[in-house]
Amino acid sequence: MGYQISNAQTAIPIPDTLSGSNIDLYLKDSVKQFYTGYNTATIGYNGNYLGPTLIINKGQSITLNVHNQLNDTTTTHWHGLHVAPSNDGSPHNMIMAGTTWSPSFTSMDDAATYWYHPHLHMKTMKQVLKGASGMIIQRDAVEGALNLPRTYGVDDFPLVCQWKTFDIVTKQIVMDDELDNATMVNGTLNGYLNVPAQMVRLRLLNGSSHRFFMFAINDNRNFKVIAGDESLLNAPVTLNKLQLAPGERAEIIVDFSGQNGNTYYLKQLGTQLPSGYPGGAVGMMGTPGPLDNTDFNLLQFNVTPTTSTPTPITSIPTSLVNNTVTPSIGAGTGNFLFQGSPMNSMTNFTINGVQYVENVMNFSVKQDSVMIWSMTNQSMMPHPLHIHGNHFYILTVNGSAPPAQFQGKKDIVVVPPQGGTAQLIMKYIDFSDTIMPYMYHCHISSHEDNGMMGQFMVKPSTHQNPQGINDINDASIQVFPNPVTNELQLDGKGNTIQQIKIFSTIGELIYSKDSKQTKTTIDVNFLATGQYYLTLNFNNFSKTIKFQKQ
Ligand code: C2O
Ligand code: CU
Ligand code: CU
Repeated sequence: MGYQISNAQTAIPIPDTLSGSNIDLYLKDSVKQFYTGYNTATIGYNGNYLGPTLIINKGQSITLNVHNQLNDTTTTHWHGLHVAPSNDGSPHNMIMAGTTWSPSFTSMDDAATYWYHPHLHMKTMKQVLKGASGMIIQRDAVEGALNLPRTYGVDDFPLVCQWKTFDIVTKQIVMDDELDNATMVNGTLNGYLNVPAQMVRLRLLNGSSHRFFMFAINDNRNFKVIAGDESLLNAPVTLNKLQLAPGERAEIIVDFSGQNGNTYYLKQLGTQLPSGYPGGAVGMMGTPGPLDNTDFNLLQFNVTPTTSTPTPITSIPTSLVNNTVTPSIGAGTGNFLFQGSPMNSMTNFTINGVQYVENVMNFSVKQDSVMIWSMTNQSMMPHPLHIHGNHFYILTVNGSAPPAQFQGKKDIVVVPPQGGTAQLIMKYIDFSDTIMPYMYHCHISSHEDNGMMGQFMVKPSTHQNPQGINDINDASIQVFPNPVTNELQLDGKGNTIQQIKIFSTIGELIYSKDSKQTKTTIDVNFLATGQYYLTLNFNNFSKTIKFQKQ
C-alpha cells in the first residue's frame, strides 16, 4: 500500500525561529540533497530550503528586512497577515536583485499559523517550488491563556507539507507540477518526527503548488482541529480526516498519551478526495500523476519518552475563542465567475472573463465597507481562491454552511468544480491606498501565474490610516508628487542618495543615475503614462516605492 512504507531514516528538521522587532531574511540560491548523492538546485530563506519560522506577537511592531540575494527579482508576501498594501509583498512590492525591502508594521493578527512566500507575477511557481517559503506563528493573549500545547519543537510542530515533481534521472525539481511524484514534510522525503507521549499540536500547511491533501493518522483515530487559516475555532472540531487545499493551514491536536514506543504515520488519503480534486481521482480530465488517488504515508511519528514537556497537556478546552461572522448589513456584492479556457484546460483560467494585467484595477471598494463575494466555478477543477488584505468568513459552499473546521477566520476558500459556488464576507478595515492594490487569486500556482488573479483597491473613506497611505513616504525618504507629470522630487531626509533607478512593473531597468545628494529632482517627461518602481540606494540601505506617471 503506497510507496513510502519502509522505516523512515531521516528526522525532519524543525526550522529555527526568529522573533523580535527586527528580522532579517536572506533569500538565496542554494542546493540540497533530497536524494543521497544528488545535488538539487533550491532556493531558501536563510538556508538551503524553506526558511525560519517567524514568531510574531499581536500588537508588537516589526520590521522585516528581506535581502534579495537571488540573481532575479522577487517579492515576499506575508500570506494572511493584515497589513497595508505597501507592506503586503504582492507582485507590486518588487525586490530587485541585490536590494533589501524592509516593510514595517504593527502586528494585528489573531493567533494562528500563517506563512510567507515569493509572489512575483509569473515567477511565483518557480521560486516557491524551488523551496522559498516559511511558516509564521502568530501569538496573542487569548490563545496564550488557553491550555494548549505550545512549546515549539517539543509538543508544537510546524509541518510544511508539499507535493513536488523531481526529474527521475537528475533529481532536479521540475517546474511543472501536473505529474507530482513525491511528497515531503519540512523538505524531507520519507522522514520521521519524534513526538512525546502526550497531546501534540501539529501546524499543517499545504505548501504545494497544485495538489490537495486529505490528512489522516494511519490508525484512523480522531484528532481535534483547533485552528484554521487565521484564527482558532470557536470549539475544537473532532475529525479523522482533514482536507487542505494549496495555501490552507490548520492546527490539529493528536493525543499520543500512553503510547510510548509506538509508531504512527501521518497519511495522505488521496482516495478520499472528491473526484476531480488534484491528488484524488482525475475525474473527467487530465492524466493521473503517479501518486494520485492513492493512500500513503507522509510522515512517521516515533512516540518516545525523551522529549516530553514537564507538564504535558492532558486535555484541551472545550471552547476556544469567539469568532463572530462579519455582519452583512449594508454589504456590497461582487460576482466572480471562474472559467477554463478552453473548457477542459488544466492551467488557463479567467475570472469574469479576464486574466491579470498589472496596471488594470479590477474593482475598488471603500475603506470600512463590507462586501459579499459570490463565486461560481464553471470549470472542471476546484479553485482555492485566496484574498489578500484581511480575513474573511465563508458564508456558504454549494449553498450550505461550510464544515465546522472552516468556520473561523479564513483567507482561502475552495470553490468546487462544475457549477460549484461559494460565498464569503469581508470587511476592508484599517488600510487604504490610492496606488497599491490587494490581490485575489487562485492559490494553485500555475493558475495564478497564468493570470487567474485580479486586484482591487481599498480607497480612503471617512478616515485615512497613516499606516496605509503614508508608508510610501516614511522617515527615511520622501518622493513627491505622486502621481507625477514632469518632475519627481526626491528627499533622502538627510541621507545621501547614492543611486537612483527606475524599473518597469515587470522589473526592467529603464533609468539609472548616480547622485551624491540628499535632495534631488528627476525629469520624468520621457516616461510613458503608467506605473513604475523607483529604487533609491543609500549608503547601507535601499528603498523601492511605486509611483504613477501621468
Ligand atoms: Cu499565498 Cu497571494 O498568496
Ligand atoms: Cu496571501
Ligand atoms: Cu485554480
